[in-house]
Amino acid sequence: MAKKILFTETVLRDGQQSLIATRMPITDMLPIMKTMDEAGYHSLEVWGGATFDACIRFLNEDPWERLRLLRKNVKNAKLQMLLRGQNLLGYRNYPDDVVQAFIEKSITNGIDIIRIFDALNDLRNLKTSVETTKKFGGHCQIAISYTTSDFHTVDYFVELSKEIEKIGADSICIKDMAGVLTPNTAYELVSKIKDNVSLPLEVHTHATSGISEMTYLKAVEAGADIIDTAISPFAGGTSQPATESVAIALQGLGYHTDLDMNKVTAIAEYFSPIRDRFRNEGLLNPKVKDIEPKTLIYKVPGGMLSNLLSQLTEQGLQDKFEEVLKEVPLVRADLGYPPLVTPLSQMVGTQALMNVISGERYKLVPKEIKDYVRGLYGKPPVAIKEEVKKKIIGDEPVITVRPADLLEPKMDNFADEIKQYAKSTEDVLMYALFPQQAKDFLGRREDKFYDVPVQKVNVSIDI
Ligand code: CO
Repeated sequence: MAKKILFTETVLRDGQQSLIATRMPITDMLPIMKTMDEAGYHSLEVWGGATFDACIRFLNEDPWERLRLLRKNVKNAKLQMLLRGQNLLGYRNYPDDVVQAFIEKSITNGIDIIRIFDALNDLRNLKTSVETTKKFGGHCQIAISYTTSDFHTVDYFVELSKEIEKIGADSICIKDMAGVLTPNTAYELVSKIKDNVSLPLEVHTHATSGISEMTYLKAVEAGADIIDTAISPFAGGTSQPATESVAIALQGLGYHTDLDMNKVTAIAEYFSPIRDRFRNEGLLNPKVKDIEPKTLIYKVPGGMLSNLLSQLTEQGLQDKFEEVLKEVPLVRADLGYPPLVTPLSQMVGTQALMNVISGERYKLVPKEIKDYVRGLYGKPPVAIKEEVKKKIIGDEPVITVRPADLLEPKMDNFADEIKQYAKSTEDVLMYALFPQQAKDFLGRREDKFYDVPVQKVNVSIDI
């Protein structure tokens, strides 16, 4: 019998995050949820990543209420979220008690599957989130932050997958956030992981460089069980490949999917005018749908390329672009080959830019890079050379324990700081993650004289 391939639909999280900076309000989602529930998806990725931040910062929407409403309307499909390990949905490490409370509340408010990853693939940074997800009955999917470098070989990722199985994952995801996983590597990587690990394997890529459908096909041929796609109006470019197109192609090749193509088509028709509205409002920049093979040539994520170019252009230094691009791999090697994923992509990019602008390597170093070298983000994939370390932090000590072991519990402090407006643990968690935005959101909700308006500025897209 032909193999069945399962689909995770990303339109409500990564699809809209990659194309419209996560600005889709719940009112655009609710009318189609029943159809999405019945369309035969394995899961719907609906929460986490930037959705939480965008809800309070730009949409004046309670992210917890969004989750509860989605859960109320989805009875069959599993609801999935993305979580950055000990960073939760932010950019720094939180103490264990905050991580535990956040995961418990995510599950009790409706999440089934939590995809957990660490930017450095330091599994110590996943420990608390993995344990808590399992404790509260969630499906714990651990994602490999896929990247390319001399160090990140197929064998390295296979060894990492074995460790992931050992620490209790229910499934594994190869998370290619930059769209740099090529079809041949996908085939080799998926085959070898399937040979060594008995967990279901999901593949996540982005269409940025124009090869994503080929990558999925080879991954499926090699034994991948689940793939991530976005319904066509929110597919392509920096988003995922289109659900309908990939499903039709796979069905033609004899694979089974559980998708009801009539329902999937209805979903595409529903989101089509919504996509048009975002395009007319200017939130959907046509550029994000462009194909960008440079990301394969420079091995730098598309979002990082455009961020660097805009930073340089702002300072009238766009002629330094090529020079900065050449500096990126050198900085990355100096720093022990961190995967170029948020926040490390921004940090490495900024350091490369500073090296070029100042004309001297590590003359100027941002605080985040110093903290990284101090070990506060976790263990770099490769040890940082002594001379580089000395240049960046002098003789300061480097920590070798799990970074969160150094953090005191903080839930009580957060609860105390926001007691004027918080009515629930969910409110306190909102404040713990995004203090100023949450204070403004909760202030507007609880006090009719609270006069900080909802933010209207546009932000750059961060995948
Ligand atoms: Co993604």
